[in-house]
Amino acid sequence: MQTVLVTGGAGYIGSHTILELIDAGFEVVSVDNYVNSNSSTYDRIFELSGKRIDYYEVDLRDLEATKQIFTDHPNMVGVIHFAALKSVPDSVANPIFALDNNNSSLNNIAKCCVEFNVPNLIFSSSCSVYGNVMPEDLPVTEQTELKKAESPYAYSKQNGEVLLEFLTNVSDLHAICLRYFNPVGAHISGQIGELPSKRVNNLIPVITQAAAGVIPHFTVFGGDWPTRDGSCIRDYIHVTDIANAHVLALQKQMDGSYTECFDIINLGSGDGVSVFEAIAAFEKASGVKAPYEVGPKRDGDVETIYSNPQKAAEVLGWIPKYGIDEMMSSAWKWQLRMKELGIAKHKMD
Ligand code: NAD
Ligand code: WQD
Repeated sequence: MQTVLVTGGAGYIGSHTILELIDAGFEVVSVDNYVNSNSSTYDRIFELSGKRIDYYEVDLRDLEATKQIFTDHPNMVGVIHFAALKSVPDSVANPIFALDNNNSSLNNIAKCCVEFNVPNLIFSSSCSVYGNVMPEDLPVTEQTELKKAESPYAYSKQNGEVLLEFLTNVSDLHAICLRYFNPVGAHISGQIGELPSKRVNNLIPVITQAAAGVIPHFTVFGGDWPTRDGSCIRDYIHVTDIANAHVLALQKQMDGSYTECFDIINLGSGDGVSVFEAIAAFEKASGVKAPYEVGPKRDGDVETIYSNPQKAAEVLGWIPKYGIDEMMSSAWKWQLRMKELGIAKHKMD
């Protein structure tokens, strides 16, 4: 069996990717320190897949403990590195902690891949590396110039990409950086989804929480942007489509047809959806109102960003399967499931 190490596997995108990897026939090992997740994720993966995976509780800043995982799994064919602190506001409040966590974890994973001859690495990058995108830059392609990072979080992703490019020049490592736009929704069964330890600030979770009464309402950050309806525009993409792109990227690396030893690929749908359109899509998919008020703009928000998805289609054959209706209906199913499990509120406080 070909073994893949998934770091941050108890988290949101990691857990959905583990399901896709199992489905594709890989043996999966996961590592997480649960700073923003919970080991109960593995029970839900078992319920959905019938597979108990091997997992470690390790902080990836600990090099010796990280090495032990590689020693234990000599058949490792690749690593998918999700583990990171992803909250932009938290990184602004505590830049050293965020940078140390994200950079040290990647450094250790990269060191181990080279030392243990694991040839393939896929790195979770982010559209935040593009910085403050101007309207003339849209849709964003992989060639779009990176501007100054707007947060320590975005800086950690820019750093990660640069490190991997240098490292692949002087080692046998092959690395692909996947730059996600706005991953949303939950597994289509509604049995697994995002279960963060901290309060979430992203749009779709606050919509579902407001609709479920977990929070009284949410705020739309600005209604007078120069867009078609006055709200910001983003490129939302279903989390299972994001997960699936990792499997395709790894398979491509493994079948030897990938000519590049370092590459960068955007994962977006190519469609911009406004905040008001997202709310309307949610209400249509769920049949439930999500109470909101229109408030001031949020610091650091860009007006519009969406991706040109051509490279992912050409290189990986990746075509997103799910549209905005499934993104919203699955997010709602998961919100209701969290209520059933009794984890709807306290996890968000
Ligand atoms: P998440 O917080 O749900 O998952 C990340 C996981 O990494 C968590 O389970 C956390 O406990 C773990 N982790 C963090 N630091 C660790 C460490 N030092 N050692 C071991 N485990 C550690 O986040 P996610 O949404 O699943 O994001 C996964 C990756 O994708 C991250 O790298 C994130 O930056 C990137 N990304 C996410 C989004 C998004 O909107 N969700 C967008 C672009 C990029
Ligand atoms: C989406 C839209 C808000 C909350 C973030 C990170 C980015 C990447 C993806 C990791 C924006 C509006 C939101 C609310 C609102 N993550 N909004 N009320 O900011 O596009 O991107 O996640 O790499 O780095 O910055 O996502 O979901 O926070 O916001 O009106 O309560 O919804 O203004 O237009 P964002 P988001």
